[in-house]
Amino acid sequence: MIKYQPIIPGFPAFPHGGDYNPDQWIDRYPDIVEGDIRLMDLAGCNTFSVGIFSWAKLEPSEGEFQFEWLRSILDQLHAAGKQVILATPSGAKPVWMSRAYPEVRRVNVSGAREPHQHRHNHCFTSPIYRQKVAVMNRKLAEAFGSHPAAKLWHVSNEYSGDCHCELCQQAFRDWLKARYGTLEELNHAWWGHFWSHTITSWDAIESRNTTIEGQRLDWLRFVTAQTVDFMKHEIAALREGGAKQPVFTNLMGVFPGIDYWRFAEVVDVIADDCYPIWTYENDADRRTASRVAMIHDMHRSMKGGQPWLLMESCPDSPQHFQTPKPKRPNVYRTEMLQAVAHGSDSVMYFQWRKGRGGMEKLHGAVVDHDGTEHTRVFKQVAELGGTLRKLTDVIGTTSRPAVALIYDWEVRWALEISIGTKRLSYEECVQEAHRPFWQRGVPTDVIESTCALDSYKLVVAPCLYLLKPGVVERLRQFVEQGGTLVLTCLSGVVTESNLYQLGGLPGGGLRELCGVWSEEVDYLYEGQSQRVALCEGNSLGLSGSYQTGRICEVLHAEGAEVLATVTTDYYAGQPVLTRNRVGKGSAFYLGAFLGKTFQEAFTDALIKDCGIAPILPVNPPRGVGVQLRTDGEAEFVFIQNFSKEPQRVTLDKRDYRCMESGVSLSEAVDLAPWQTRVLKRASLSAETGA
Ligand code: GLA
Ligand code: ZN
Repeated sequence: MIKYQPIIPGFPAFPHGGDYNPDQWIDRYPDIVEGDIRLMDLAGCNTFSVGIFSWAKLEPSEGEFQFEWLRSILDQLHAAGKQVILATPSGAKPVWMSRAYPEVRRVNVSGAREPHQHRHNHCFTSPIYRQKVAVMNRKLAEAFGSHPAAKLWHVSNEYSGDCHCELCQQAFRDWLKARYGTLEELNHAWWGHFWSHTITSWDAIESRNTTIEGQRLDWLRFVTAQTVDFMKHEIAALREGGAKQPVFTNLMGVFPGIDYWRFAEVVDVIADDCYPIWTYENDADRRTASRVAMIHDMHRSMKGGQPWLLMESCPDSPQHFQTPKPKRPNVYRTEMLQAVAHGSDSVMYFQWRKGRGGMEKLHGAVVDHDGTEHTRVFKQVAELGGTLRKLTDVIGTTSRPAVALIYDWEVRWALEISIGTKRLSYEECVQEAHRPFWQRGVPTDVIESTCALDSYKLVVAPCLYLLKPGVVERLRQFVEQGGTLVLTCLSGVVTESNLYQLGGLPGGGLRELCGVWSEEVDYLYEGQSQRVALCEGNSLGLSGSYQTGRICEVLHAEGAEVLATVTTDYYAGQPVLTRNRVGKGSAFYLGAFLGKTFQEAFTDALIKDCGIAPILPVNPPRGVGVQLRTDGEAEFVFIQNFSKEPQRVTLDKRDYRCMESGVSLSEAVDLAPWQTRVLKRASLSAETGA
């Protein structure tokens, strides 16, 4: 039996609770905490994050630290048996600091220093901000690091954004010097002679020049590195102050501005904030469910399968949605349990109690302005609290998928930066490849291009446009050793510096690996497409004809088997899907996107060809998600209906037990609209003793 330790050391329950901001209330509503604790118990909530945006209350004027209010809250929560996640308050700086030290405020891309406003907008290079943060974090750690309620550190909040002040410019130049060493190397990477953008001295580098593609890519890398460096600085101060607890920062799905894999290397636990928009239209909701599934898969994959924290979610409707609809019955519950199905070991909300003022006073929360346990939302939270207590055996279990999808931030950046490809949504391309696996109940990891591949049978890398060093070698090794690789159009187009590959596409060695040369990329106008036909007797057993989307490459097989060809236009007869057998494995190349029906048939054929068993033998109905967590002996099968119709899902002949009702099931299970059922079965290897 293999289980991860609980995320909160020694606490074997699901952390269930959320952001708690009593500091907004205590001055005028002194009984608020007492009242909240009563409600927390009723809601089955046990864990709260405090102090996230509390700098102004912790240090109301420079050097005047007031921690007693926080101590009192920790004491009260502890006395009530609650776990506390303590935050560092760097996500929102106090007004006095912005006034005394203008350098802590960001300079935007037009060169203007921002006034004090909003949050998440400090300069991440400013020595003064870093010093103030270090003092604050150290003092917090000294004061609360050994408080019995304090279990984890929530470092800052949703790090994001960039700053173009002189300090950041200088740091960018230093970062570039360390990366390239010489201006000659830098100019080669940035193709500096184009339009006379040649950089002749390091001082001449100007971060606000957004017209050099290579520079823009490096700026995004620098912003990631500088933000991670800032976070490390925050963590170091906590450790200096004696804090021993695990640390994390809350991520925002596939937020484009920061490469989250670099955070993953520094934090102890992955934590994510997730706010899906449900429309109650089956197709749209199915796509949303599969998009969220992909993001959750990525968070589980970021630390090799280690359970992660669903840190923020909304039990009702976030007010920033265009149509802030209340969540329909069962919807919220299924949304939260989807995170658990994909490896989260918590359900946490933003936020516990709705504020009275400010930008988030309408944002859904567990406790509404009526202040009671009588709302529909509150009752649902309490019900889920009960469910989570019945799912305790799931804690620490994971999933070991045979399939990995590659989603790489640098690939996304390069595609978005390059004139010509920026209309293409990389995220959608990966999602469309991921969706059929999700729909069939085949677990998938979502990894970056430099991750180890040896545990997978099948790796799908849609639009692997940019190649980081070492990636092609690793893909080749994976295929040689028996793996199946699927690449698509727009693969291997540029180097790590966004320089076009020489020697024919797909470049960097992929041409040889795939046995195919992509001579041209045909971009089609809206409404246009080419027709494609599968070849008789192809090795995947696929048949029929399909239409391309808005990209179709003109391919030449160079040793690869041709599985499908284009039948229209000047390149009729040329391949569009190929398979190259290399060593014990195969590399497929798909030169066009052929739509949902093809993608589903192709996925089915790949699963079969690779000998991958879905969680259930029969495909679940559309809009039903099936996921699995296991400790090697017991398997927890999450079956979730993301549609507004009841659904019946076929099981196999094994014995299943419903974790909530305790009822035994076999052969089939019925789901009401938006219902989730968690079933337990024994793993086959445990049953056979294999
Ligand atoms: C983010 C923030 C929270 C809150 C929510 C509202 O995730 O981290 O502080 O603003 O959004 O949805
Ligand atoms: Zn700055």
